[in-house]
Parts: sequence; C-alpha cells; structure tokens
Amino acid sequence: MYLKSFSRTLARIGTRALVMASPLLLAGCDLNFWRMDGHQSTIDVAGPVARSQRDLFYITCDVTFVIFIIVASVLAYATFKFRARTEADAHAEPPPQGHGNPLVEIGLIAGSVFALVIIAIPTLKAIWYTYDVPEAEKANAYEVTATASQWWFKFEYPKEQINGVGPLTTGNELVIPAGRPVRIQLRTADVIHSFWVPKLAGKVDMIPNRGNAIWMEADQPGYFWGQCAEYCGDSHAVMRFRVIALNEKDFAAWLSAQKEPARVVAAVAAGSPQAKAQFASYKINEYGFTPKWDPGASVTPLENWQQQQFPNKDENPALIAQGRKLFQEKTCIGCHTVRGHEGVGITGPNLTHVGARTTIAAGLLENTPDQLARWLRHPNQVKPGNKMYNGGYIDPKTGKANFTLTEEDITALVAYLSSLK
Ligand code: CUA
Repeated sequence: MYLKSFSRTLARIGTRALVMASPLLLAGCDLNFWRMDGHQSTIDVAGPVARSQRDLFYITCDVTFVIFIIVASVLAYATFKFRARTEADAHAEPPPQGHGNPLVEIGLIAGSVFALVIIAIPTLKAIWYTYDVPEAEKANAYEVTATASQWWFKFEYPKEQINGVGPLTTGNELVIPAGRPVRIQLRTADVIHSFWVPKLAGKVDMIPNRGNAIWMEADQPGYFWGQCAEYCGDSHAVMRFRVIALNEKDFAAWLSAQKEPARVVAAVAAGSPQAKAQFASYKINEYGFTPKWDPGASVTPLENWQQQQFPNKDENPALIAQGRKLFQEKTCIGCHTVRGHEGVGITGPNLTHVGARTTIAAGLLENTPDQLARWLRHPNQVKPGNKMYNGGYIDPKTGKANFTLTEEDITALVAYLSSLK
C-alpha cells in the first residue's frame, strides 16, 4: 500500500517533470503550471468519463515507473560493481561473453507479460466504459447532436422540437444538464474534425458518412473549454467551443428561453420610459440565478455565462432596430438564421440567441461589443479562410467586395447581435 502510493507520487512527479521540461525552457518558470489545472487539463478532470481515462493514465505511469526503478537499479548496480577499478582493469580484455541465464530470460518475459496484463485489464474496462452510457443510466441520458463545419460547431437538441421549425439549434456553446449522462451524436458537414472537451471526456472524430458518438457527464454545474482536435484546414487551431453544464432548473429555464423566437426590441428612444418598460418586460425570473448587472464585477466563468443571459441595461433600442435592418440589407440573413426575424440561412451558426453566448467566432473571442466589432471588421484576420469573409464580404470568383461595412454599420450590427438574448 505504502509502496503503491509512493510509486504513484513519484510517477506523477516524473510525468510532470517531463511535460514541464519543454515549455519551461521556452517560457521561463511559471509556477501555476505545476498545478496542471488549466482550462483544458486532462489531469484536473470534472466528470466520470475523463476521470476513468486519467486513472488509466496513472496506472500506466505506475507500471512503467516500477519497471524504470527495477531496470535503473540493476543498471546502476552493474555499473558500480563491474567498473574498472585499476589502470590494468581499464586495458584488460573483456570477460567471456555469454548468452545469459535462461531462468533470468524466461523470468523477464513472464514479468513483461504480467506488466502488460496489469495495464490491459483496466484499459479494456475503460474502453468499454467510455464507449457508451452505462446500461443502468441509459434511460436518464440526454441526447444532443453536434455537427462540425469549417470552422464551427452546430448543436441540435432533438428532444426540443419547435413547431414548424425542427429541433432547437445553437452554435459553439453546448449547454448540458449537470450530473446526467449526455450522449452526443457526432457529425460533420465537410472534412474530418474531432470533438474534445478535455475535462469531461477524451476526443472522438467526426467523420464524413459515419455516425460516431461520444458520451460525457459533468459532476457539477460548470463552464468547460472544448476544441477541434483533428487538423481540418486553415483555421483548425482556432476551432473551439464551450460546454456549459447547468443544474436541472437552470437547464430547463435555458431550454425554454432558447425555444423562444429572437427578442424584438422596438425602436424607442434610449433612456425613455418606453425603453425602460421594454427592458423590464424581458423574462429573467425563470433562472435560479440573478444578474449582477455589473460588468466590472469579478465572476467565475459560469457566473459570467449566467450574466450573459440577460440584456444590457444600457442598450440603445434605436441602434438595435437599425442593426436589424442592416442584418437584412447586408445579406447576413442569407447565411444565418435568426428565428422570428428575417434571417433564414443555414451556412453559418444560428444567431437567434447569439447575445446570450459568452463567445463568438467559434469560441475564439469573448462576446463583448469590442470583440464583436473586431470580428465584423476583419473576419479574415481573426479566422483565416472563413466563409463569412470569402463568399460573404468578398466574392471568391471576382475578388470584388459583395458589401462593405462602415464603422457606423458595425456599431449598429453589434448592438443588434448583442440584444439577441
Ligand atoms: Cu475542425 Cu480541426
């Protein structure tokens, strides 16, 4: 028992030392790195699937560490015992060379097989466990479909049908119930992508014409980072997403808010009584959390997401109405759906409730007015090769601009998109 925990500790230290060596040389000493609890840590896990994978990693570390200690000890012993002690030793003929001891060799083979078996049993168990939701929990599992495109993720909720529209659809932020298994059907609209939320589960590829699936579960409500893990073109490295796990009540509230059509803001004067009444009419009471209404407050990523569900107190209704018009005129509607408004396109992410997401541009930028403006101003600098720029802004055949946005246009579009809670 003592030996086991000792070897495990040493194995962890050894693994950390190895992982640390390269970045340390490049980046100097960052003490936070020792905790290995970054956003995409596979060590600091938050659900049963990722936990089983991490534990398997440790078992493998333990076994290899024991082998390392045995081999290194024998090597050190032999080096010390048979070293050249005198000048004469150094120049002497080597002793007669043999083929070794059959007993030792058979013992080594048996030892290796034993070590492999120790690793193989938990490996097979983990493969079976992570393959699909355990039988006993199947009835409780929640189903979602994730479809990858160059370079963003679409999430559909087949159980949440909207009359005359189809399943509830969102983009780049997958909201799931916490403490409940979630089975995610993995699809792709173009090339091979890979779906990875390091703290919740290992990666599974999204392959054309093949129906893969992954399951995961978050122990607690939380905010998790995910990313495409298979090279898929120019902007693969910035193809990210988020997973937000909510308790049962908040998840139900989120679903009902998402099933609503896009929020309509009438073009009344900012700060007027009509504007205040309009703002107050937004349903905010269904969630188990209340907004802090303070953009400067220090909050956790989950609290930040919660805050994002509510409209901005200082929003300008006239500007929002202008943005909605521009969204139509500048042909944004051809690629993006805004359910209840003019947008009907399906090439790009569904933007019906984009203002309630914490990120834009597939999890790359924070969803703040500044970053949204940056994205609209120079999409190709943020995400090279994207379709909004090549084909939206610029006609790929002629190289000429389909449309341009002035700074005024951008301000209005930002106000409109941010209002879509
Ligand atoms: Cu999608 Cu890499």
